[in-house]
Amino acid sequence: MNVLIVGSGGREHALAYKISQSEKVDKIFCIPGNAGISSLVTACFDYDVSDVKSLVNFAKSELIDLTVVGPEVPLVNGIVDEFEKEGLRVFGPNKKAAQMEGSKIFAKRLLEKYNIPTAKSFVFDDYDKALDYINKNTPPFVIKADGLAAGKGVMIASDKNTAEESVKDCFIKRKFKEAGKKVLIEEFLSGDEVSILSFVDGETILPMTPAQDYKKVFDGDKGLNTGGMGAYSPVPIVTDEVYETITSQILLPTLDALKNEGIIYKGVLYAGLIFTSDGPKVLEFNVRFGDPETQAILPRLKNDLVDLIDAVVDGNLSDKKLEWRKEKCVSVVLASGGYPEDYSTGYEIKGLEKLEKMDGISVFHAGTSFKDGKVVTAGGRVLNISALGSSFEEARKKAYAAINEIYFENMHYRKDIAKT
Ligand code: AMP
Ligand code: GLY
Repeated sequence: MNVLIVGSGGREHALAYKISQSEKVDKIFCIPGNAGISSLVTACFDYDVSDVKSLVNFAKSELIDLTVVGPEVPLVNGIVDEFEKEGLRVFGPNKKAAQMEGSKIFAKRLLEKYNIPTAKSFVFDDYDKALDYINKNTPPFVIKADGLAAGKGVMIASDKNTAEESVKDCFIKRKFKEAGKKVLIEEFLSGDEVSILSFVDGETILPMTPAQDYKKVFDGDKGLNTGGMGAYSPVPIVTDEVYETITSQILLPTLDALKNEGIIYKGVLYAGLIFTSDGPKVLEFNVRFGDPETQAILPRLKNDLVDLIDAVVDGNLSDKKLEWRKEKCVSVVLASGGYPEDYSTGYEIKGLEKLEKMDGISVFHAGTSFKDGKVVTAGGRVLNISALGSSFEEARKKAYAAINEIYFENMHYRKDIAKT
């Protein structure tokens, strides 16, 4: 079959790498892709991902049998509905289901209605009322823009002044535009965080192995939030018993809640969880594979990914069982210095060929492109170096040994991924 992958990050390169291993697949195309993906697949095309009509036309003209959508923006904008209307097979939730990520208020209301554990929260659509709430309550506050904000819409305020600035950012400065028109102010929870991604076919939920990502830019969780600076899988705190608790108290009730609301959820549902002293609670849902979690999860997946995706699209997931390698996976992001704020691009990436020969190492490109036949940096997050090892220590050592071979100007990475 012919597969189209939509997206351009490390997640999409990891998807392309797993999809390319499937015996079911003839050609893979990616829109828009990056340098690493284009070296792996049949071809990449630089179309605008928000131009769904062009994507539909492409899928028809190239006889695409399956489209896999990586990022949240096209999903929330309804790309799946448009493809389905044209009779095209596509992997991901439809517009209604994608509200689980597209509106934090929508997700929160669902959790509350069905008594699924999550932080207590209040909704505001007005600056004065939000300010009044802040003045009458005790910090810390977690302030969340309702809509998509490229990972920047969550602000943790440890004092009232910061909280006031955050609601000002949303309502007065309109920093998040329409996404900040409504705001959630949430109780602050503390504990370890874990991401559980599940395949869902509308009826059955099949949770994957857990992963943990590192959101802050510097070692020791210092500095600004990023899209993610690294990840590892599995997560030792998620014992079999904890996994059972998460499944029975959070994942299955969420699927039941969606069904009860008449929402047929198909695709990957990503639950961002926090382990509080009261047990696991939901911080957020995403409606897609996580980035960089996917780069630490897929190298451990033994199943044919296309087989699983087909099962989701066709509603046969109950016949499937996920199988995982015992090895641990550690994935480290190499970023452009300055990211997540301003950074320069266009620097040559040296040493990539040395990693091709290294056992257990996968290099997933994110912001890379070709210039004069050379691979150059083209984004904030540039590469993900994923390593498999029999222990976390071994996987870590392999990942960092591989990184030692890579060089580009102003390269920055965290040195404490999966460090205990
Ligand atoms: P979200 O996009 O909702 O996952 O939020 C991004 C990050 O903000 C999470 O991974 C947490 O680290 C943090 N966060 C979100 N909600 C809360 C909360 N209620 N209490 C503490 N931290 C939170
Ligand atoms: N790793 C966080 C995300 O994919 O949103």
